[in-house]
Amino acid sequence: MLDVKKIKLDFPILRRQVNGKPLVYLDNAATSQRPKPVLEAIRDFDTQHNANVHRGLHTLSEEASAMYESSRATVAGFIGAPADELVFTRNTTEAINLVAAAWARHNLQPGEEILSTVMEHHSNILPWLQLGVTMKFVDITDEGILDMKDFAKKLTKKTKLVTVGHMSNATGTINPIETIIKLAKKVKARVLIDAAQSVQHLGIDVKQVNCDFLAFSGHKMLGPMGIGAVYLKKERQEEMLPFMTGGGMISEVYLDQPAVWAKGAEKWEAGTPNVSGAIGLAAACEYHNRLGMINIRAHEKELTEYGLKQLSRIKGLRLVGPKDASIRGGVLTFVFDQYHAHDVAQVLDSEGVAVRSGHHCTMPLHQRLGLVSTSRASLYIYNDKSDIDRLIEALDKVRSVLG
Ligand code: ALA
Repeated sequence: MLDVKKIKLDFPILRRQVNGKPLVYLDNAATSQRPKPVLEAIRDFDTQHNANVHRGLHTLSEEASAMYESSRATVAGFIGAPADELVFTRNTTEAINLVAAAWARHNLQPGEEILSTVMEHHSNILPWLQLGVTMKFVDITDEGILDMKDFAKKLTKKTKLVTVGHMSNATGTINPIETIIKLAKKVKARVLIDAAQSVQHLGIDVKQVNCDFLAFSGHKMLGPMGIGAVYLKKERQEEMLPFMTGGGMISEVYLDQPAVWAKGAEKWEAGTPNVSGAIGLAAACEYHNRLGMINIRAHEKELTEYGLKQLSRIKGLRLVGPKDASIRGGVLTFVFDQYHAHDVAQVLDSEGVAVRSGHHCTMPLHQRLGLVSTSRASLYIYNDKSDIDRLIEALDKVRSVLG
């Protein structure tokens, strides 16, 4: 199990007061906080090694290049991938856009389809819709669980790509991705896993699950903003064109004949990359490795069970999403009587409790559940039962403040 008291000490921001109360940070599905080892890794690069990568022969440039590539190996290792199958991006959104533009655009034949689900966040819907190809969306139950019968019905020989989130950012639903991938492979469909909410809470090994693509963000997993990654299986790389063109992604450029693209990950990393971001993300991966993904999941599952139990005791509060914490990550979503989620979030903020309110970038999911907006408390390694208790106490104030 995790030593949460000790973990909290690693996060300087958690010592902050908000509105005169000690901060309880429960907006981890939107972004997470950064521990000292991540902040120190970034600071070390910025103050001791800052230089451009793969471009210079001077000492700083060689150090920066080595640190960048070693970060790639660490981040790739975190998801069970070899370094040459991991491309750095700005975030999950860019990662999915990269696969849509550099792979899907060139590999879908007329009549072929993309299969996704109604529970995806907008980043795993819009890049595909923009392609203008036929899309189908698997339905969910009223509890927010993926309807696997509907999946089996909509998955056909025409399906070229299945793109699905591992864990919903809005309901916490954990999807059975191993089963999804096995079924997809039977019809020779490729599979993208949107792991924005799962690499850091559940862990994943891309070789074990055998997906083709996997996207995630650094800032949701204790790393900096502006850095993310996409896993591109070697065989798929051979079918891909560049995403963006420019410096760093070529081996030869001519004015009168086609350029020759770089081999490997660099082909999809045009321009100067976010080197300090990659170094910070690698430090974040190492932080998770030290805690152990099994311990992280066990801690968050226990906390989710506690949170669901405590919230279900509040009169007028309706939980959204699976009731069973074994298929739910640490995302506690609810509607509270007639109160608008934004008003609830404001009352909670006045008590120092940070949650997200609204549609959480999942408008189709909210429409499917007949909801306009919800309140969401999302958990991480530095949360404990005392944070849930503060949430419950703050919710007690909602009626008296809002009437
Ligand atoms: N997808 C992020 C969230 O769930 C922004 O809040």
